This record gives sequence, C-alpha cells and structure tokens, in this order.
Amino acid sequence: MANFFTMRTVTWEHDRVRMIDQTALPGRLVRVAYTTPEQVAEAIRTMVVRGAPAIGVAAAMGIALAAHRSKAAKLADLLRDMESAASLLRSTRPTAVNLFWGIDRVMSKARSARSAKDAREWVAEEVKAMEEEDVAANRKLGRYGADLVGDGDTILTQCNAGALATVGYGTALGVIRAAVEQGKLVKVIVPETRPALQGARLTAFELVRDHISCTLISDTAVGHMMSLGRVDKVVVGADRITKDGYVFNKIGTYQEAVLAKRHGVPFYPAAPHSTFDLVRTHEQVTIEERGADEVVKVRGRRIAPRGIPVANPAFDMTPPELVAAMVTDRGLIRAPYQGNIFRLMS
Ligand code: MRU
Repeated sequence: MANFFTMRTVTWEHDRVRMIDQTALPGRLVRVAYTTPEQVAEAIRTMVVRGAPAIGVAAAMGIALAAHRSKAAKLADLLRDMESAASLLRSTRPTAVNLFWGIDRVMSKARSARSAKDAREWVAEEVKAMEEEDVAANRKLGRYGADLVGDGDTILTQCNAGALATVGYGTALGVIRAAVEQGKLVKVIVPETRPALQGARLTAFELVRDHISCTLISDTAVGHMMSLGRVDKVVVGADRITKDGYVFNKIGTYQEAVLAKRHGVPFYPAAPHSTFDLVRTHEQVTIEERGADEVVKVRGRRIAPRGIPVANPAFDMTPPELVAAMVTDRGLIRAPYQGNIFRLMS
C-alpha cells in the first residue's frame, strides 16, 4: 500500500481537540490544541479547520469539550450547557451540512443518556467513533470512485477535498489515492481556488507530499485545459448534496461542471453519507458569503483599490443534469438522482 499522508486533521484526545492549523500551510505544518467550544468555533470560522467532513467532526468535538468542562451534576443542566455550545457552533458556517450532522449526532447521543455521567462518557466515545468512521468512509468511497478512473487519466479537481478536508484520506483525493493504490497512473490538475487558495496551498501540499503527479493552474485556465483535451475526468468534493440532487461545493465547481459538459468530460462529486441532506431542496440552502478581505487581498497583501464593492460567495451549486455519477461510501449514485439518493442514503 502506498505511503500516503496519514496525519489526522482533527483528533480527540480525552480533554482536548488537536487539529492541523490549515492557515499555516503549506509553509508550516503546525498542530494546535483546543480545550473549549469557543476556541473550536473560532477555528471553524477562521478556517484553521475547514472542509465539510472535518468541520462536522470538529464541531461534534467542540460539544464534547463543553460536556467535559461543564460542572453540571444533573443531566438536564449538562444538556443545557451542551446546547449552548451547539448553538454557537451551528452559527459558524452555514453551507456544509456535515457541520449540522455532527452536532445533531452528538446531541442526540447525549439526550439518550440517563445520567450526566453516562452522557459525558458517551459523547466522548461518540466523537472518537466519528473520527474513525470518517477515515473508513473515505477509504470506502475511494475504492468505489477508483473504479471510474482509467490508467493514465488526468483528473481535474477543485479546492481541497483531501485528507485535510476530512479526518484523513480525503474524498476527491481519496478517489485519486485509491486509484493510485490500484496501480493506476493518475495525473491531477489543481486549480489554485481563489480566494482562499485551498488548491494551491492544501491540495498541492498533499499531492506533492504523496508523490502524486500534479500540475497547479490558475482558476482561469480551466476552460482552456479542457478545450485542449487535457482533462479526462473531474472529481470534486461536496459540502452538501440536497435531496433533489444539487451539489454545493467550493466556488468555481459549477463552472467546471458546465465546461465538463461542453467538452464531454464526466463530472463526479465524491462525498460520504454525512454530506447528503435528505430534508432540504436546493432552494433552501444558504450559500456562505465571506468577508471582502479574502478577495481584495492575497495572503494579506492588498491587490484591489480601497472602497471597491466585493461579492465573495464561498460556494456554488451544480444541478444534477451536469453530474455523471455521485461517488459515496455506499456506492455510486446515478440519475435519476432524487429517487436514487433516497434509496441509498435513507
Ligand atoms: O471553504 P472550505 O475550504 O471549507 O470549502 C471546502 C470545500 O468546498 C470542499 O470541496 C468540500 O468541503 C468537500 S471536502 C471533502
């Protein structure tokens, strides 16, 4: 088996949450430790930890910290302290459904306890299980996705849907890693992914470190590369896939999907079951709008005039008719998506 990047992005250590500080990459690989839910919420908001599965597990761990720190002796009082941490964590980022999935899962575990003591123990066990399950789910979806990858394929991705966006292994990069593990020769095209540069900073970091062949391009070069026939497949992650089959992912994904259709290139989102929203349709999802500084500055340096109005949507939405298949830890989903998502995910 290939010797891939194995350090966990988020991990639970009894009374603390350890994370890789993704704002320091690729320059420095630094791990930070948090002991309060407020610190975890701030880490999610400022993208010390980012990527849908990673923030889902991190938020759940933030609540486990609240349970650990609470002085409550009665279950009802403990649940109140945990609920207050949950509402803070829910307010950090609106688009990735994994965040809400992680919070709801750990809260419902605590609510099923009979005593505060049991609830504390159970949530600690639950977040450790979520950490393990995330890596296992990515390995599984990686294997399903790898069957779609041909030997010698060049794959275009977007943002970072790698080990750093999950607890480990990755979703889109999980597919690529699994294809490499099957002995296939794979090349990856990595768009830089302005404004936060997750492609240039994080995906490039992971692929270079794992010795997987990759080329960094500017976001504006995507159409040109497709028109030259240099892309065989598009494989991206997802922050939320709604019950009607719309894929929410990092801004820039939709234009890749449209261009892929134009050039006859299959477009595959890869996501674990925790990314599927079986309650909402696409009209009911909030796309996060982030601060103007991300656009007017590059790594802290101003590139646009002061006072310029800025729009900074962090995600976009790809309609199901542009999707060739969805790669999940429960297998592939093909059209018609609405019915097939329910069949596999509910
Ligand atoms: O704003 P980010 O960096 O949290 O956005 C991340 C993405 O859009 C990823 O592609 C998505 O979360 C899938 S990660 C497995």
